[in-house]
Amino acid sequence: MQASPDVSPAKWHLAHTTWFFEQFILKNHAENYEEFSKDSNALYNSYYETQGKIFPKSQRGLISRPTVAETFAYRDYVEQQVEAFLQTTPLTEEIADLMEVGLQHEQQHQELLITDTKYNFSINPTNPAIIPDHLSETTAAPREWLTFEEGLTEIGTNNIHFSFDNERPVHKYWIHPFSIATVPVTNREYMNFIEDGGYKEAGYWLSEGWSIVKQEQWEAPLYWEKHEGEWYAYSLQGLKKVNPEEPVTHISYYEADAFSRWAGFRLPTEQEWEHAFSGYSTEGHFVEAETYHPAPVDKPEHVYGNVWEWTRSPYAPYPNNRPLEGALGEYNAKFMSNQMVLRGGSCATPQSHIRSTYRNFFPPEKRWQFSGIRLAKDE
Ligand SMILES: [Fe+2]
Repeated sequence: MQASPDVSPAKWHLAHTTWFFEQFILKNHAENYEEFSKDSNALYNSYYETQGKIFPKSQRGLISRPTVAETFAYRDYVEQQVEAFLQTTPLTEEIADLMEVGLQHEQQHQELLITDTKYNFSINPTNPAIIPDHLSETTAAPREWLTFEEGLTEIGTNNIHFSFDNERPVHKYWIHPFSIATVPVTNREYMNFIEDGGYKEAGYWLSEGWSIVKQEQWEAPLYWEKHEGEWYAYSLQGLKKVNPEEPVTHISYYEADAFSRWAGFRLPTEQEWEHAFSGYSTEGHFVEAETYHPAPVDKPEHVYGNVWEWTRSPYAPYPNNRPLEGALGEYNAKFMSNQMVLRGGSCATPQSHIRSTYRNFFPPEKRWQFSGIRLAKDE
Protein backbone atom coordinates (compact mmCIF):
# COMPACT_ATOMS: atom_id res chain seq x y z
CA MET A 1 0.00 0.00 0.00
CA GLN A 2 0.96 3.65 -0.46
CA ALA A 3 -0.93 6.01 1.84
CA SER A 4 0.62 9.26 0.54
CA PRO A 5 2.65 10.43 -2.47
CA ASP A 6 5.71 10.80 -0.18
CA VAL A 7 5.90 7.15 0.79
CA SER A 8 6.42 4.02 -1.28
CA PRO A 9 4.96 0.53 -0.92
CA ALA A 10 7.24 -1.97 0.88
CA LYS A 11 7.20 -4.12 -2.26
CA TRP A 12 8.53 -1.23 -4.33
CA HIS A 13 11.48 -0.63 -1.95
CA LEU A 14 12.39 -4.32 -2.18
CA ALA A 15 12.27 -4.26 -5.97
CA HIS A 16 13.88 -0.84 -6.54
CA THR A 17 16.99 -1.60 -4.45
CA THR A 18 17.33 -4.84 -6.44
CA TRP A 19 16.90 -2.96 -9.72
CA PHE A 20 19.75 -0.64 -8.69
CA PHE A 21 22.23 -3.56 -8.68
CA GLU A 22 20.79 -4.99 -11.88
CA GLN A 23 20.69 -1.71 -13.76
CA PHE A 24 24.01 -0.15 -12.73
CA ILE A 25 26.18 -3.23 -12.19
CA LEU A 26 24.92 -6.39 -13.87
CA LYS A 27 23.56 -4.86 -17.09
CA ASN A 28 26.65 -2.69 -17.59
CA HIS A 29 29.40 -5.02 -16.38
CA ALA A 30 28.33 -8.69 -16.26
CA GLU A 31 28.99 -10.58 -19.51
CA ASN A 32 25.91 -12.14 -21.15
CA TYR A 33 23.69 -11.00 -18.29
CA GLU A 34 20.08 -11.98 -18.84
CA GLU A 35 17.50 -9.71 -17.24
CA PHE A 36 15.03 -11.26 -14.82
CA SER A 37 12.25 -9.41 -16.65
CA LYS A 38 12.20 -6.81 -19.39
CA ASP A 39 9.65 -4.86 -17.29
CA SER A 40 11.91 -4.04 -14.33
CA ASN A 41 13.21 -0.75 -15.67
CA ALA A 42 9.71 0.57 -16.41
CA LEU A 43 8.58 -0.35 -12.90
CA TYR A 44 11.54 0.42 -10.63
CA ASN A 45 13.44 3.36 -12.12
CA SER A 46 12.87 5.94 -9.37
CA TYR A 47 14.18 9.19 -10.84
CA TYR A 48 17.03 8.51 -13.30
CA GLU A 49 16.23 10.44 -16.49
CA THR A 50 19.19 8.76 -18.22
CA GLN A 51 17.70 5.30 -17.58
CA GLY A 52 14.44 5.59 -19.50
CA LYS A 53 10.86 6.39 -18.70
CA ILE A 54 9.99 7.06 -15.06
CA PHE A 55 6.74 5.78 -13.59
CA PRO A 56 5.12 8.46 -11.35
CA LYS A 57 6.13 8.07 -7.70
CA SER A 58 2.66 8.99 -6.48
CA GLN A 59 1.16 5.96 -8.26
CA ARG A 60 3.53 3.22 -7.09
CA GLY A 61 0.80 1.85 -4.84
CA LEU A 62 -1.37 1.14 -7.89
CA ILE A 63 1.06 -1.42 -9.32
CA SER A 64 -0.45 -4.74 -8.22
CA ARG A 65 1.73 -6.92 -10.47
CA PRO A 66 4.40 -8.31 -10.09
CA THR A 67 3.21 -9.85 -6.84
CA VAL A 68 5.15 -9.84 -3.57
CA ALA A 69 6.24 -13.45 -4.24
CA GLU A 70 7.49 -12.48 -7.72
CA THR A 71 9.32 -9.52 -6.19
CA PHE A 72 11.17 -11.79 -3.76
CA ALA A 73 12.00 -14.09 -6.70
CA TYR A 74 13.48 -11.02 -8.47
CA ARG A 75 15.58 -10.24 -5.41
CA ASP A 76 16.82 -13.84 -5.15
CA TYR A 77 17.72 -13.91 -8.84
CA VAL A 78 19.66 -10.63 -8.79
CA GLU A 79 21.42 -11.53 -5.55
CA GLN A 80 22.62 -14.82 -7.03
CA GLN A 81 23.71 -13.06 -10.21
CA VAL A 82 25.65 -10.43 -8.25
CA GLU A 83 27.37 -13.13 -6.17
CA ALA A 84 28.30 -15.10 -9.29
CA PHE A 85 29.54 -11.91 -10.96
CA LEU A 86 31.75 -10.98 -8.00
CA GLN A 87 33.20 -14.49 -7.85
CA THR A 88 34.13 -14.56 -11.53
CA THR A 89 35.11 -10.95 -12.23
CA PRO A 90 38.18 -9.08 -11.01
CA LEU A 91 37.09 -6.45 -8.50
CA THR A 92 38.09 -3.22 -10.21
CA GLU A 93 37.84 0.07 -8.36
CA GLU A 94 34.84 0.98 -10.51
CA ILE A 95 32.94 -2.20 -9.58
CA ALA A 96 33.88 -1.88 -5.91
CA ASP A 97 32.61 1.71 -5.88
CA LEU A 98 29.35 0.74 -7.56
CA MET A 99 28.81 -2.12 -5.11
CA GLU A 100 29.42 0.26 -2.21
CA VAL A 101 26.91 2.78 -3.59
CA GLY A 102 24.40 -0.05 -4.14
CA LEU A 103 24.75 -1.20 -0.53
CA GLN A 104 24.58 2.32 0.90
CA HIS A 105 21.54 2.95 -1.31
CA GLU A 106 19.87 -0.17 0.07
CA GLN A 107 20.53 1.06 3.63
CA GLN A 108 18.79 4.32 2.76
CA HIS A 109 15.79 2.36 1.56
CA GLN A 110 15.83 0.14 4.67
CA GLU A 111 15.27 3.36 6.61
CA LEU A 112 12.53 4.51 4.24
CA LEU A 113 10.91 1.08 4.51
CA ILE A 114 10.39 1.79 8.22
CA THR A 115 9.29 5.43 7.94
CA ASP A 116 6.97 4.61 5.03
CA THR A 117 5.52 1.52 6.70
CA LYS A 118 4.79 3.59 9.81
CA TYR A 119 2.92 6.15 7.73
CA ASN A 120 1.00 3.46 5.84
CA PHE A 121 -0.16 1.77 9.06
CA SER A 122 -0.98 5.12 10.70
CA ILE A 123 -3.91 5.54 8.33
CA ASN A 124 -5.60 2.51 9.90
CA PRO A 125 -8.15 3.76 12.50
CA THR A 126 -7.38 0.78 14.77
CA ASN A 127 -3.76 1.98 15.24
CA PRO A 128 -2.22 -1.48 14.72
CA ALA A 129 0.81 -2.45 16.83
CA ILE A 130 3.23 -4.11 14.43
CA ILE A 131 6.06 -4.78 16.89
CA PRO A 132 6.12 -5.49 20.66
CA ASP A 133 5.87 -2.65 23.15
CA HIS A 134 9.23 -1.19 24.24
CA LEU A 135 8.70 0.67 27.48
CA SER A 136 11.45 3.16 28.20
CA GLU A 137 11.95 4.12 31.83
CA THR A 138 15.02 6.20 31.07
CA THR A 139 15.11 9.89 31.95
CA ALA A 140 16.47 12.44 29.50
CA ALA A 141 19.70 14.17 30.50
CA PRO A 142 19.24 17.93 31.12
CA ARG A 143 20.23 20.31 28.35
CA GLU A 144 23.65 21.82 28.67
CA TRP A 145 25.58 23.87 26.14
CA LEU A 146 28.80 23.23 24.28
CA THR A 147 30.43 26.54 23.40
CA PHE A 148 32.80 27.11 20.49
CA GLU A 149 35.00 30.07 19.73
CA GLU A 150 35.22 31.66 16.34
CA GLY A 151 37.77 30.31 13.93
CA LEU A 152 38.49 28.44 10.76
CA THR A 153 37.30 24.85 10.51
CA GLU A 154 37.13 22.13 7.86
CA ILE A 155 33.80 20.77 6.67
CA GLY A 156 33.08 17.74 4.46
CA THR A 157 35.25 14.80 3.47
CA ASN A 158 37.45 13.52 0.65
CA ASN A 159 36.97 9.90 1.69
CA ILE A 160 35.37 8.04 -1.20
CA HIS A 161 35.26 4.75 0.83
CA PHE A 162 32.66 5.84 1.74
CA SER A 163 30.91 9.15 1.43
CA PHE A 164 28.23 10.39 -0.95
CA ASP A 165 29.26 12.99 -3.50
CA ASN A 166 27.25 15.66 -1.65
CA GLU A 167 29.63 15.42 1.36
CA ARG A 168 32.71 16.28 -0.72
CA PRO A 169 35.17 17.89 -0.89
CA VAL A 170 36.80 19.07 2.36
CA HIS A 171 36.65 22.86 2.43
CA LYS A 172 37.34 25.71 4.82
CA TYR A 173 34.54 27.37 6.75
CA TRP A 174 34.60 30.26 9.18
CA ILE A 175 32.77 29.48 12.42
CA HIS A 176 31.28 32.38 14.40
CA PRO A 177 31.08 31.98 18.20
CA PHE A 178 28.14 29.71 19.06
CA SER A 179 26.80 27.18 21.51
CA ILE A 180 24.96 23.98 20.67
CA ALA A 181 22.74 21.91 22.96
CA THR A 182 24.06 18.62 24.35
CA VAL A 183 20.69 16.89 23.87
CA PRO A 184 17.71 17.18 21.51
CA VAL A 185 14.44 18.89 22.47
CA THR A 186 12.09 16.58 24.38
CA ASN A 187 8.36 15.96 24.06
CA ARG A 188 7.93 17.69 27.43
CA GLU A 189 9.44 20.90 26.07
CA TYR A 190 7.45 20.59 22.87
CA MET A 191 4.19 20.11 24.81
CA ASN A 192 5.02 23.33 26.67
CA PHE A 193 5.33 25.07 23.29
CA ILE A 194 1.91 23.73 22.27
CA GLU A 195 0.29 24.65 25.62
CA ASP A 196 1.80 28.12 25.38
CA GLY A 197 0.00 28.69 22.07
CA GLY A 198 2.98 27.99 19.81
CA TYR A 199 0.74 26.93 16.93
CA LYS A 200 -1.51 29.99 17.39
CA GLU A 201 1.03 32.82 17.32
CA ALA A 202 2.17 33.88 13.85
CA GLY A 203 5.16 35.70 15.30
CA TYR A 204 7.07 32.45 15.85
CA TRP A 205 6.64 31.23 12.28
CA LEU A 206 8.24 31.64 8.91
CA SER A 207 5.59 32.88 6.48
CA GLU A 208 5.41 29.62 4.49
CA GLY A 209 5.20 27.65 7.72
CA TRP A 210 2.36 29.79 9.07
CA SER A 211 0.42 29.28 5.83
CA ILE A 212 0.71 25.51 6.23
CA VAL A 213 -0.23 25.64 9.92
CA LYS A 214 -3.47 27.38 8.93
CA GLN A 215 -4.14 25.35 5.81
CA GLU A 216 -3.42 21.92 7.36
CA GLN A 217 -4.67 22.95 10.81
CA TRP A 218 -1.45 21.68 12.40
CA GLU A 219 -1.54 21.82 16.19
CA ALA A 220 0.97 19.09 17.11
CA PRO A 221 3.60 16.81 15.48
CA LEU A 222 2.49 14.24 12.91
CA TYR A 223 0.96 11.11 14.54
CA TRP A 224 -0.11 13.00 17.68
CA GLU A 225 -3.74 13.00 18.82
CA LYS A 226 -5.36 14.29 21.98
CA HIS A 227 -7.69 12.12 24.07
CA GLU A 228 -9.29 13.45 27.27
CA GLY A 229 -6.66 16.15 27.62
CA GLU A 230 -3.64 13.85 27.07
CA TRP A 231 -1.40 13.57 24.03
CA TYR A 232 -1.01 10.19 22.37
CA ALA A 233 1.23 9.31 19.42
CA TYR A 234 1.10 6.45 16.94
CA SER A 235 4.24 4.40 16.38
CA LEU A 236 4.81 0.87 15.07
CA GLN A 237 4.23 -0.12 18.72
CA GLY A 238 0.63 1.17 18.43
CA LEU A 239 -1.01 4.28 19.93
CA LYS A 240 0.71 5.20 23.19
CA LYS A 241 0.72 8.16 25.56
CA VAL A 242 3.46 10.60 24.57
CA ASN A 243 6.55 10.00 26.72
CA PRO A 244 7.74 13.47 27.85
CA GLU A 245 11.34 12.21 28.16
CA GLU A 246 11.73 11.20 24.50
CA PRO A 247 13.08 13.56 21.84
CA VAL A 248 10.23 15.19 19.91
CA THR A 249 9.94 13.83 16.37
CA HIS A 250 7.87 13.99 13.17
CA ILE A 251 8.00 17.75 12.95
CA SER A 252 8.64 19.89 9.90
CA TYR A 253 11.49 22.37 9.52
CA TYR A 254 8.91 25.10 10.09
CA GLU A 255 7.90 23.61 13.45
CA ALA A 256 11.55 23.13 14.47
CA ASP A 257 12.27 26.74 13.57
CA ALA A 258 9.14 28.07 15.33
CA PHE A 259 9.96 26.09 18.47
CA SER A 260 13.50 27.44 18.54
CA ARG A 261 12.21 31.04 18.31
CA TRP A 262 9.65 30.41 21.04
CA ALA A 263 12.42 28.97 23.24
CA GLY A 264 14.62 32.02 22.60
CA PHE A 265 17.24 30.15 20.59
CA ARG A 266 17.78 29.08 16.96
CA LEU A 267 18.60 25.97 14.91
CA PRO A 268 22.29 25.21 14.23
CA THR A 269 23.80 25.48 10.79
CA GLU A 270 24.98 22.18 9.33
CA GLN A 271 28.57 23.40 9.65
CA GLU A 272 28.09 24.16 13.36
CA TRP A 273 26.62 20.68 13.83
CA GLU A 274 29.55 19.02 12.08
CA HIS A 275 32.16 21.21 13.81
CA ALA A 276 30.68 20.36 17.23
CA PHE A 277 30.25 16.61 16.78
CA SER A 278 32.79 15.36 14.24
CA GLY A 279 34.94 14.03 17.10
CA TYR A 280 32.11 11.94 18.63
CA SER A 281 31.78 8.24 17.89
CA THR A 282 28.62 7.32 16.01
CA GLU A 283 26.86 5.75 18.95
CA GLY A 284 23.26 6.12 19.97
CA HIS A 285 19.80 4.72 19.34
CA PHE A 286 19.66 3.25 15.81
CA VAL A 287 17.52 0.85 13.81
CA GLU A 288 19.40 -2.11 15.33
CA ALA A 289 17.50 -1.48 18.60
CA GLU A 290 14.38 -2.55 16.64
CA THR A 291 12.06 -0.16 18.51
CA TYR A 292 11.59 2.07 15.43
CA HIS A 293 10.94 4.92 17.85
CA PRO A 294 13.17 7.47 19.61
CA ALA A 295 14.39 6.76 23.15
CA PRO A 296 15.16 9.29 25.92
CA VAL A 297 18.73 10.54 25.59
CA ASP A 298 20.31 9.74 28.96
CA LYS A 299 23.86 9.85 27.59
CA PRO A 300 24.61 13.26 26.05
CA GLU A 301 27.62 11.79 24.24
CA HIS A 302 25.13 9.86 22.07
CA VAL A 303 24.57 12.65 19.58
CA TYR A 304 23.89 10.26 16.68
CA GLY A 305 20.73 8.23 16.05
CA ASN A 306 17.30 8.81 17.61
CA VAL A 307 16.09 11.78 15.50
CA TRP A 308 17.45 13.52 12.41
CA GLU A 309 18.12 17.08 13.46
CA TRP A 310 16.93 19.92 11.26
CA THR A 311 19.60 22.51 10.55
CA ARG A 312 18.99 26.02 9.24
CA SER A 313 21.20 25.24 6.21
CA PRO A 314 19.67 24.91 2.76
CA TYR A 315 20.79 21.82 0.85
CA ALA A 316 23.28 23.17 -1.69
CA PRO A 317 26.59 22.06 -3.21
CA TYR A 318 29.79 22.60 -1.24
CA PRO A 319 32.55 24.72 -2.83
CA ASN A 320 34.22 22.76 -5.66
CA ASN A 321 31.69 19.94 -5.36
CA ARG A 322 31.44 17.70 -8.44
CA PRO A 323 28.54 15.31 -8.97
CA LEU A 324 29.48 11.73 -9.87
CA GLU A 325 30.17 10.94 -13.53
CA GLY A 326 27.45 9.22 -15.56
CA ALA A 327 23.97 8.15 -14.46
CA LEU A 328 24.82 8.29 -10.75
CA GLY A 329 25.40 12.02 -11.16
CA GLU A 330 21.62 12.10 -10.74
CA TYR A 331 21.85 10.49 -7.29
CA ASN A 332 22.14 13.65 -5.16
CA ALA A 333 23.06 16.75 -7.13
CA LYS A 334 19.77 17.40 -8.91
CA PHE A 335 17.88 17.69 -5.62
CA MET A 336 19.81 20.71 -4.42
CA SER A 337 16.95 23.18 -4.29
CA ASN A 338 14.16 23.91 -1.83
CA GLN A 339 15.29 21.40 0.78
CA MET A 340 16.95 21.75 4.19
CA VAL A 341 19.82 19.68 5.59
CA LEU A 342 19.35 17.31 8.54
CA ARG A 343 22.19 15.73 10.51
CA GLY A 344 22.90 12.79 12.78
CA GLY A 345 20.70 9.84 11.78
CA SER A 346 17.61 8.43 13.49
CA CYS A 347 16.11 5.40 15.21
CA ALA A 348 15.38 4.08 11.70
CA THR A 349 18.94 4.57 10.37
CA PRO A 350 21.37 1.63 10.24
CA GLN A 351 24.25 2.54 12.57
CA SER A 352 26.93 1.74 9.98
CA HIS A 353 25.25 4.18 7.57
CA ILE A 354 25.85 7.39 9.51
CA ARG A 355 28.97 9.57 9.85
CA SER A 356 29.74 13.13 10.95
CA THR A 357 29.75 14.50 7.40
CA TYR A 358 26.47 12.80 6.34
CA ARG A 359 23.94 15.22 4.83
CA ASN A 360 20.30 14.18 4.77
CA PHE A 361 17.79 16.52 3.14
CA PHE A 362 14.04 16.97 3.01
CA PRO A 363 11.60 19.69 1.95
CA PRO A 364 10.83 21.98 4.91
CA GLU A 365 7.17 20.94 5.21
CA LYS A 366 7.75 17.16 5.40
CA ARG A 367 7.07 15.36 8.69
CA TRP A 368 7.05 11.62 8.06
CA GLN A 369 10.75 11.15 8.74
CA PHE A 370 12.04 10.84 12.32
CA SER A 371 13.00 14.53 12.37
CA GLY A 372 13.67 16.50 15.55
CA ILE A 373 15.33 19.57 17.06
CA ARG A 374 18.71 20.43 18.57
CA LEU A 375 18.97 24.04 19.68
CA ALA A 376 21.84 26.45 19.13
CA LYS A 377 22.55 30.07 20.06
CA ASP A 378 24.94 32.86 19.15
CA GLU A 379 27.69 33.76 21.64
FE1 LIG B 1 16.55 4.82 -4.48
